[in-house]
This record gives sequence, structure tokens and C-alpha cells, in this order.
Amino acid sequence: MIRSVVRGFGAALPKRVLTNREMEDIVETNDEWIVQRTGIRQRYIAGEGETTASLGEAAARAALDRAKLTPADIDMIIVATSTPDNTFPATAVNIQARLGMHHGFAFDVQAVCTGFVYAVATADAYIRGGLARRALVIGAETFSRILDWTDRTTCVLFGDGAGALVLEAAEGKGTIADRGVLTANLRSDGAHRDKLYVDGGPSTTGTVGHLRMEGREVFKHAVGMVTDVIEGAFNATGTTADDLDWLVPHQANRRIIDGSARKLGIPLEKVVVTVDLHGNTSAASIPLAIATAAGDGRIKEGDLVMLEAMGGGFTWGAVLLRW
Ligand code: UT7
Repeated sequence: MIRSVVRGFGAALPKRVLTNREMEDIVETNDEWIVQRTGIRQRYIAGEGETTASLGEAAARAALDRAKLTPADIDMIIVATSTPDNTFPATAVNIQARLGMHHGFAFDVQAVCTGFVYAVATADAYIRGGLARRALVIGAETFSRILDWTDRTTCVLFGDGAGALVLEAAEGKGTIADRGVLTANLRSDGAHRDKLYVDGGPSTTGTVGHLRMEGREVFKHAVGMVTDVIEGAFNATGTTADDLDWLVPHQANRRIIDGSARKLGIPLEKVVVTVDLHGNTSAASIPLAIATAAGDGRIKEGDLVMLEAMGGGFTWGAVLLRW
């Protein structure tokens, strides 16, 4: 059977780092509160000329280099983002143009913080369905541009960045020993749509709007939802937490990450954590974490890797893959 195998990974961050200390000059907050409640120590903020598409392009080029491929080898681009450069066209076609590609097809996926998990699952389905052979899957965000910088309950949490994977069709045996995406488990429940949302949009206010979140409500649901989809992915493949080499969680909050790992019996040494460096970069957080841990040699060929996320909608999901 056809499997979607990771051939390359890449990441891009804005130049400007904003530390918790600097945050103290913007809103009534302090480093201790932010570190204790979230694990975040700094985040990157896009400056002039840096956009979701420019960061996504840089991450894509890094992933292509790593895969020893060029844009000519790619036939599909999927971008997970909630902060597109324009309402339309899709950021994916913007990146397609920046890469000088006139062939293939490109589109965006919008599932907020779960966007990258949805995008990998989508790319895998297209590849296995024979619609594409090589895909660039990008998570890219500039959440700093939709934050209310007077609201301390949200503005300290988020940051900007992008990450990308190259997925390629490869023949597998159909067992869990295969490299590539082994299973995906996606969920959403729009009943929770008002707990984490943006209070504007083209069809309602005609404005971009600002991010609003009932943090405690999101927190309350996060661990249960995340562990449910991970257990679903384990059950679908006959694997267990003991088989896992790496858990790469969405990087929203250290307490959610630790709580989920503990509930699943996954030791913290097997969990990739970058929330301290990047803050919550929504759909970019998982590919940024992957690029960090694969880049420093922790994630190696043959490793069993679980990706998981939960976010606005609510949406939540997990992807199990062999690197
Ligand atoms: O990526 C999508 C998913 N999103 C998330 O996963 C976010 C989930 N939620 C969270 O991570 C946490 O709920 C937060 C980090 C947002 C908040 O942590 P918490 O432990 O739930 O704190 P809280 O909202 O219960 O607030 C505790 C106190 C409040 O003061 P009072 O009412 O107890 O006097 C807040 O006003 O902390 C206060 N507070 C702050 N203090 C200093 C809220 N924000 C800040 C701040 N600095 N930035």
C-alpha cells in the first residue's frame, strides 16, 4: 500500500524575540506568572515585511533543501493557517507563487491550532488516493497580528513562526513497521466555537478582529480531548504508549502537555517541548517542534512519532507516523 513518508522538514521564525520581561512593559503581567502558568519564556513576533506567506515560504525552502528536492518536484501545497496574508486567495497559492511553481495545486486548511494535524491527514489522504505524489505541508502563523495587545489573558500566550514537511508517496507493506503516516484521528465539535475565536471576519464585521479566549474553559477540555484521540490512534494501529519514541504535542501550555503525557503514561523524556522558546504558534507549533527535535538528532529514521493538537472550534486530532 502507498504510505506518505517524511522526506524533509524545515522551520522559520521572525527576527524579533519578545521576552516575558519585555511583556511586562506592554501589559500588567510578570515573568513568574507566565512561566508558572504556561512554561512560555519568550516568543517571536513578525516585523515589517514578515508575513504568514513569507515565513511559510522560508520553512518550505528549508524542508525542500533537507529533502534534496526543488519546487519542480512538488505537486501539492497545503498550508494550515488561521492568519492568512489575505482573506483570499489562499496563503498556499501565495507560497506556490513565491516558490516559482506554476504546476500542481495549493490550498489552505483552517482548523486553528489543530491545523497542522488536519493538513498532514489531508495530504496523506490525497497521496494515498493518488491525487498527488509529493506534498509540501506547511503550518504558518502570525498570531501577533490578531492579538488584543491590551488583553493580558491572551497576548502573553501566542507567537509567530512556520514549519514545513515534505511528504512523498512510497510503497509500504501495510504494517506498522512501514515508514510514513500510519493513522490519523480527527475530531471537532462546534458547540465550543465561542470559547476560542476571533471576534471579526469578512462576512460578519468586515474586519479582521481579535482573538478572544476563555482560557480556563479551554484548559478544562484540553487534556481529555487530546488523550482520547491519541488513545484512538494507538487502538487503530495496535500500538501502545510503550511503542512510542516521541510525542510531539501542540505547544500551547506546558501544564497541558505534561498532564496529557502523564495520563497516557508517556515519560517526559519522550515529549518534545518548545513552548518555552516559541510560545503558542497555533498551526505552526507542531512543525516547529518537529524541526527542532529532528534537527538536533532526537527524532531519527524509524522512530514512532505521535503528533497531537487541540484548539479553536474546538478541533482536536492526532497523527501517528513512523519517521
Ligand atoms: O492553542 C489553543 C489552546 N489554548 C490553550 O491551550 C490555552 C488554555 N488555557 C490556558 O493555558 C490557561 O487557562 C491560561 C494560561 C490561559 C491561564 O491559566 P489559568 O491557570 O487558567 O489562570 P486563570 O485564567 O484562572 O487566571 C488566574 C489569575 C486571574 O486572576 P484572579 O481572577 O485569580 O485574580 C487572572 O486575572 O491570573 C490572572 N492573569 C494574569 N496575571 C498575570 C491572567 N492573565 C495574566 C497575566 N499575567 N498575563
